[in-house]
Amino acid sequence: MASAALLLLLLYSSSPFCHVAAAEEKRRTYIVHMAKSRMPATFTDHGHWYHASLRSVSDSAEILYSYDTVSHGFSTRLTPAEAATLESREGVLSVLPEVRYELHTTRTPMFLGLDESHGLFPQADTGSDVVVGLLDTGVWPERKSFDDTEFGPVPAGWKGACEEAKDFKATSCNRKLIGARFFSKSYEATVGPINGTTESRSPRDDEGHGTHTATTAAGSAVTDASLFGFANGTARGMATRARVAAYKVCWAAGCFSSDILAAMDRAVDDGCHVLSLSLGGEMTEYYEDSIAIGAFNAMEKGLLISCSAGNGGPIASSVTNVAPWIITVGAGTIDRDFPAYVVLGNGKNYTGVSLYSGKLLPKSPLPFVYAGNASNATDGNLCIPGTLIPEKVAGKIVLCDRGINWRVQKGYVVREAGGAGMVLANADTYGEEVVADAHLLPATAVGQKAGDAIRAYLRSNKNPKATIVFGGTKIGVRPSPVVAAFSSRGPNLVTSEILKPDLIAPGVNILAGWTGAAGPTGLSGDSRRVVFNIISGTSMSCPHVSGIAALLKAAHPDWSPAAVRSALMTTAYSAYPGGDSGLFDVATGKAATPFDYGAGHVDPPRAVDPGLIYDLTTEDYIDFLCALKYTSRHIATVAKRTNYTCDGTKTYAVSGLNYPSFAVVFQRASGAGGRVATVKHTRTVTNVGDPGTYKSTVTTAVAGGAVKVVVEPAELSFTKKGERRSYTVSLSSPSLPSVSSGFGRLEWSDGKHVVASPIAFSWT
Ligand SMILES: *[C@@H]1O[C@H](CO)[C@@H](O)[C@H](O)[C@H]1NC(C)=O
Ligand SMILES: *[C@@H]1O[C@H](CO)[C@@H](O)[C@H](O)[C@H]1NC(C)=O
Ligand SMILES: *[C@@H]1O[C@H](CO)[C@@H](O)[C@H](O)[C@H]1NC(C)=O
Ligand SMILES: *[C@@H]1O[C@H](CO)[C@@H](O)[C@H](O)[C@H]1NC(C)=O
Ligand SMILES: *[C@@H]1O[C@H](CO)[C@@H](O)[C@H](O)[C@H]1NC(C)=O
Ligand SMILES: *[C@@H]1O[C@H](CO)[C@@H](O)[C@H](O)[C@H]1NC(C)=O
Repeated sequence: MASAALLLLLLYSSSPFCHVAAAEEKRRTYIVHMAKSRMPATFTDHGHWYHASLRSVSDSAEILYSYDTVSHGFSTRLTPAEAATLESREGVLSVLPEVRYELHTTRTPMFLGLDESHGLFPQADTGSDVVVGLLDTGVWPERKSFDDTEFGPVPAGWKGACEEAKDFKATSCNRKLIGARFFSKSYEATVGPINGTTESRSPRDDEGHGTHTATTAAGSAVTDASLFGFANGTARGMATRARVAAYKVCWAAGCFSSDILAAMDRAVDDGCHVLSLSLGGEMTEYYEDSIAIGAFNAMEKGLLISCSAGNGGPIASSVTNVAPWIITVGAGTIDRDFPAYVVLGNGKNYTGVSLYSGKLLPKSPLPFVYAGNASNATDGNLCIPGTLIPEKVAGKIVLCDRGINWRVQKGYVVREAGGAGMVLANADTYGEEVVADAHLLPATAVGQKAGDAIRAYLRSNKNPKATIVFGGTKIGVRPSPVVAAFSSRGPNLVTSEILKPDLIAPGVNILAGWTGAAGPTGLSGDSRRVVFNIISGTSMSCPHVSGIAALLKAAHPDWSPAAVRSALMTTAYSAYPGGDSGLFDVATGKAATPFDYGAGHVDPPRAVDPGLIYDLTTEDYIDFLCALKYTSRHIATVAKRTNYTCDGTKTYAVSGLNYPSFAVVFQRASGAGGRVATVKHTRTVTNVGDPGTYKSTVTTAVAGGAVKVVVEPAELSFTKKGERRSYTVSLSSPSLPSVSSGFGRLEWSDGKHVVASPIAFSWT
């Protein structure tokens, strides 16, 4: 149950745990943000003050965590009335109800050009002092991906620990995996004590997700890696020389914000340089979003925070983790595929994908049935547990429609009902996107076009038949990357003038390390155990960027988190290398847009030498909070600045944030204040390359040509490294287009570097 439940959260599934707290209606966990500097003089210790504040509203509530690094305050269990009273106490900034987050569930180094670019990154000693912290389901430390043979001593100043438990020894850590902690206080306070026979109350990963993300970001190279022979080759993380620290915050019933904030607090203190969070959930103002709050203060301390964009695509405005001090990562495919063909009784053959390994089906086709016709349930087509009628599927191949329940579960349901195999067919939501799974019976997943053709064959044929033939691993698939259908999309609902996601990275069919406690499907009925697994999600794309960020950090130790992100974004590609066709969106079969991929697909060899960067300081982000008209209390909650007041004489604008991309919102209506038809953005670039002159070019593609973009000055000259130059972009919409959005691209080039920024225009 433990492992099955969590994997369910990887991709497109509604969670079965929405009512975890229902049994305990009255009390729930709250995160109490305190203004540290407003401690009354009667106290000498913050802990005593927090305790006294808590006692003033409740006799029995206990402090779960005290926060001191990325946040000031504590978490505790209160009734809503107690929480409201506490909020009015002196020095209390906010009392936020806890939120439950969900996980956003290798050939990639080669696909990303990391194999040819050894010389660009310092792989030797400097690289090995960068520490990537993963907030996830923990770690399976015995995997070879954590081999520390070529590592020197743990970096000086590292304060992390290897937390011991019955199933996790201090010796489980080494010079590669240098830290492992777990955070379960709020989880246990909410769902009850952890049952040690079903879930490890330790940093150990029962689920697989945390081991997968950790080894993707920074796993050591392991030769002869594969899943049942699929994707065979050397598996390695992005930053093979970086160190790993695992912070287990996700449990069988989800990841709780008070545990997450405690882990961020600790990870910053421990000495991590990059934090990778393949989880999310909230779409709220930043002062109510624990990940945004924790990330702000981690960023201020120089850490880079990389988060998954979410698996809410292809629905518009589904992107999460959108704070501008976070790198928000969407997902694309790579050039590797696992074909498995459906051969119909009429000889027609359709290509799908599969990671099935086991006894093959006979070559001669078997009877074939549509699940919707082998069930009495209205949603019988989906192969939900208990809905197939065994007499109607026994010995047959069953076509199940994709959606609602977990893909591998559908295969399990067919197998349990006596079916011989499964064709999993997309309906329109997922278009041509197919995700390969290690099904428990012979099965393949096909896109919508093939699915429609096969359904038509089933309808029109009295005696339909089919078989499935497996094709192993295929490399060199074109086009690649394409934007994954599940990857969450912009526009950004929290701050529409900040373009999110920032970029995309590989997130489909990714091979990386796995837990020893669950099978590759994560189903409790799956008794297979594997060292590597192939899974998909923005959960998988995020650690790619976390690892690449660690490489950049090692190559440029003086770069701020914003500089690293800028380098990743301005060098990303949005057209296929060697061609001028824009990246495809597999969900629509058409060209994708910056709302799908942000700046484009990450390109590590170019990111190491971006030419110019868009830098940002903490003060710039506070100005951004002022532009959002945040109150002093909101600013204190996010940025820990007590009594900060925005300067009444200054004009703050979100468009003034020195972001490497542009999102412009024009007002359609001519109501109060009139239609806004021109928006000015000022940007400052810092030269990190050789002296030279950069020229700007702007391209736009808006139906009807309704926008005008003017860059002033059009050229920028730099005489030395570190020099800064500013420019202004005036974006206007002289006439209203019929479309609601359009796109463009601003490029600065000195002939050697291309520093590119996407532009998204919206009319509301
Ligand atoms: C823990 O889980 C096991 C296996 O499901 C069960 O037999 C046992 O009763 C549980 N223990 C507690 C204390 O709930
Ligand atoms: C994977 O295995 C196949 C078949 O054994 C072999 O031809 C191929 O070279 C292997 N690929 C790699 C990258 O090792
Ligand atoms: C199905 O078609 C593909 C090419 O479209 C071919 O490579 C493959 O061999 C065919 N498979 C079968 C089983 O007919
Ligand atoms: C399905 O419906 C048929 C006809 O109404 C009925 O005979 C059969 O028992 C039902 N089967 C199940 C599994 O509910
Ligand atoms: C389902 O069964 C009905 C009635 O027998 C038939 O008309 C229809 O074509 C079948 N649909 C599919 C997809 O097999
Ligand atoms: C913060 O502002 C309040 C009200 O304006 C004032 O009473 C208090 O002294 C200030 N505190 C600090 C630390 O500046």
